[in-house]
Amino acid sequence: MHNDYTAAMKLAIRLARRAEGMTSPNPMVGAVLLDARGRVIGKGFHHRAGEPHAEVMAIRDAGRIPQGSTLVVTLEPCNHFGRTPPCTRAILQAGISRVVLANRDPNPGVAGGGAAHLKRAGIEVVSGVCTQEAARLNEAYFKHVRTSLPFVSLKLALGMDGRIAAHDGSSKWITSAGARKQVHALRNTVDAIVVGVGTVMNDDPALTVRHVSMRDRVLYRVIFDTHLRTPIRAKVIAGQNAHYKTIILTASPDTARAAAFERKGVEVVRIKTTAQVLPVRDALNFLGKRFMHILVEGGAGLAGSLVRARLVDKFHVFIAPVIIGSDGLYPFQGVVLKSMKNAIRFKEVHWDTPGADCLMTGYPEW
Ligand SMILES: NC(=O)c1ccc[n+]([C@@H]2O[C@H](COP(=O)([O-])OP(=O)(O)OC[C@H]3O[C@@H](n4cnc5c(N)ncnc54)[C@H](OP(=O)(O)O)[C@@H]3O)[C@@H](O)[C@H]2O)c1
Repeated sequence: MHNDYTAAMKLAIRLARRAEGMTSPNPMVGAVLLDARGRVIGKGFHHRAGEPHAEVMAIRDAGRIPQGSTLVVTLEPCNHFGRTPPCTRAILQAGISRVVLANRDPNPGVAGGGAAHLKRAGIEVVSGVCTQEAARLNEAYFKHVRTSLPFVSLKLALGMDGRIAAHDGSSKWITSAGARKQVHALRNTVDAIVVGVGTVMNDDPALTVRHVSMRDRVLYRVIFDTHLRTPIRAKVIAGQNAHYKTIILTASPDTARAAAFERKGVEVVRIKTTAQVLPVRDALNFLGKRFMHILVEGGAGLAGSLVRARLVDKFHVFIAPVIIGSDGLYPFQGVVLKSMKNAIRFKEVHWDTPGADCLMTGYPEW
């Protein structure tokens, strides 16, 4: 039975992905309506939070729904009034006979409720089709809803000797144009880009989306800056507009300096600490209130802190055919493991070759 719905579920997953980066704090959801003979009669996906859910979009797309139709959907339909009415109601009203889903919704307000409600109403519910693939589609949503922490992706560009910058701090450009374009596409899929103040001071990055078309939403840039060292003329401070906003996380009591940033439209958020640097766990707790998925782009200090705290969910590591030198910067400052038995290994590793470089993506086995 499950095999019958695999192709439709894969199509629903592809549809869902079209809204990548747009749905936060909601999941990406795709839906396909099949008639009794298994032909696709409607397709839909959730475009952004506040807009109709995928199920409703597929039902609307189909128009008239014949008897014996099946709705194939990547996530359990919701059964509550949020910004839109419950999808279970739309499904019942449409006279759909069967609902096939990949994953239950772990959201405490939804969990199991949608599927149970449909079953009680006499609809056949089939679950567990393409579960893994659909769980990866919504890995950020699942983590966020379960832990209230953002899903943390870490992106770094390394030379083949594992360095992220040369001795003088320069790192432009380690990777090829093809790889950098992929980074811009990745930025389009997250809610915020995060860097340490060392990177802002050294590189003055714009942290914008270029080379690919920017999605129509706000992309946040977040700086870990314990002592408010960010230069007021930094590109990331100057460029506040409808598409880009900047947040500085700091422990500095300097209200005058904070006000200077605020006058530029930057949000300054205080994280209490007596430590030398910002406590990453507290910082992520704050970021989880605002964001579902963040992309940390270095540098070595921040990446090292996150690895030491085991708070990275997914790595995107570009490796370029260049030797930077043993006097260059090691990517994970302060990560000391002593023995191979402590080495951090990865699962679900995937290798790609953008431009002239390699890209490893994988999940750490903490
Ligand atoms: N190749 C790449 O992918 C890549 C990417 C990014 C950067 N880089 C290179 O990396 C270098 C910058 O790296 P970096 O290590 O000097 O700086 P960084 O990691 O960007 O920033 C480190 C600074 O952030 C602040 N910070 C606040 N909370 C922190 C925390 N919990 N953990 C760590 N840092 C915290 C600290 O300064 P305060 O104490 O003043 O707050 C710390 O010195 C540059 O040379 C840049 O070109 C390379």
